[in-house]
Amino acid sequence: MPDLKGRENWASRLGFILAAAGSAVGLGNIWRFPFVVGTNGGAVFVLIYLVIVIFIGYPLMVTETVVGRAGKRNPVGAFQALAPNSPWWLAGALGVFTGFLILSYYSVVGGWSLAYVIKALTGEFTTDADFVALFTGHISLTIAPIIWHAVFMVLTVAIIAGGVVKGIQRWVQFLWPVMAVLIVILIIRALTLEGSGAGIAFLFRPDFSEITARTFLDAIAQSFFTLSLGMGVFITYGSYLSDRDNVPSSAATVVGLDTGIAILAGLVIFPAVFAFGFEPGAGAGLAFITLPAVFAEMPVGTLFGTSFFLLLSLAALTSAISLLEVVASWLIDEKGWTRKSASAVLGAVIFVVGIPASLGFSAFSGFAIPGIGDLFDTYDWIANSILLPLGGLLTAVFAGYVWKAKSARAEANKDHMGMKIGEWYGPALRYVVPLAIILVMAFGIIDTFV
Ligand code: TRP
Repeated sequence: MPDLKGRENWASRLGFILAAAGSAVGLGNIWRFPFVVGTNGGAVFVLIYLVIVIFIGYPLMVTETVVGRAGKRNPVGAFQALAPNSPWWLAGALGVFTGFLILSYYSVVGGWSLAYVIKALTGEFTTDADFVALFTGHISLTIAPIIWHAVFMVLTVAIIAGGVVKGIQRWVQFLWPVMAVLIVILIIRALTLEGSGAGIAFLFRPDFSEITARTFLDAIAQSFFTLSLGMGVFITYGSYLSDRDNVPSSAATVVGLDTGIAILAGLVIFPAVFAFGFEPGAGAGLAFITLPAVFAEMPVGTLFGTSFFLLLSLAALTSAISLLEVVASWLIDEKGWTRKSASAVLGAVIFVVGIPASLGFSAFSGFAIPGIGDLFDTYDWIANSILLPLGGLLTAVFAGYVWKAKSARAEANKDHMGMKIGEWYGPALRYVVPLAIILVMAFGIIDTFV
């Protein structure tokens, strides 16, 4: 059993926010958000996503965090500590498994981002380039994307094995303002392209005829993925919080930052998609096809493009380390592994598990599940449309009924100053969140296959 008294605390309230935002902000905002908006018809999806982020994502983030702070352990141990001798630790175990699966293919996309640093640097972003061919040409190679996937995984393992998570988080967060400035410059460039107005309409003018049950399932998947919810990242990070920290306001800050960055990314991508005549429903390549086209239209585009993909890779890395940290800390806390062997062995296994996702675009490109897609989409669908919402559901039911909503709210409002979470939190946790997740999952899964 881990030593409860000796658990480290974040050096400051900012420490938690920086690490949590480092986990939340990543490929989910810049790569996944635009592509699912595009495949789901635009503004209606954005609207549903925002409603889910506020009414399900925010209360769940507070809940995971207080489960962690009260349980003072990794997800498996935290459930055990709050409900001893019950099978609830399985909810934590599900989270560990989910993290394992997400990281396996997240690292593949992290590898694309690294490869694009080199493509930008070597001047491949020119006005006469075919960016669709550039992207499909890269991912349909057999070996190169797997090597980049390996590089990304080695970087992730090195950070976790070295135990330097906080150091790197802190360092990377200083780069976020740079990223924000870059994105604003990109927005200006995208909005001044001829024909960009259609992109703004696509993003903000809802066409309600586009709604299906699947839209809601995709929106819940995106919300959980982008906020890092449903697998215990916030339980783990919450376990390092002190009782003086204000959970409601820290969670609100993280949700606000993450959502803001996703919308800003949309403001670059969609105006450019329409201006250049790309296909908004192009799928997983959308950002990798569109952004280079914008850089090509800019003075010093090579510099901008290289910096952008470098920053994107770093943002992906701070998310990847949160995934590996959850899985590794379970082996370390519960099974007594050393940090070095846990991260190295897990990294190797997760790398291997991710290989088929990459090969889904090359050697295994014949594979497809109707309603879901290729192997890569299958990983993504199982992890984000099934496992994350299931993890969120279990956490809400656990906190609402087993640990009790009253205890969760009291834990959230423990410090005497600052923001409090209101009376609405109890009914939200007990009724609204579980019911909404069950309905969305049930109808969404039916809609996927029928
Ligand atoms: N939120 C990250 C992103 O947007 C990805 C991520 C990190 C994640 N940790 C997670 C997703 C935990 C789900 C669960 O890129």
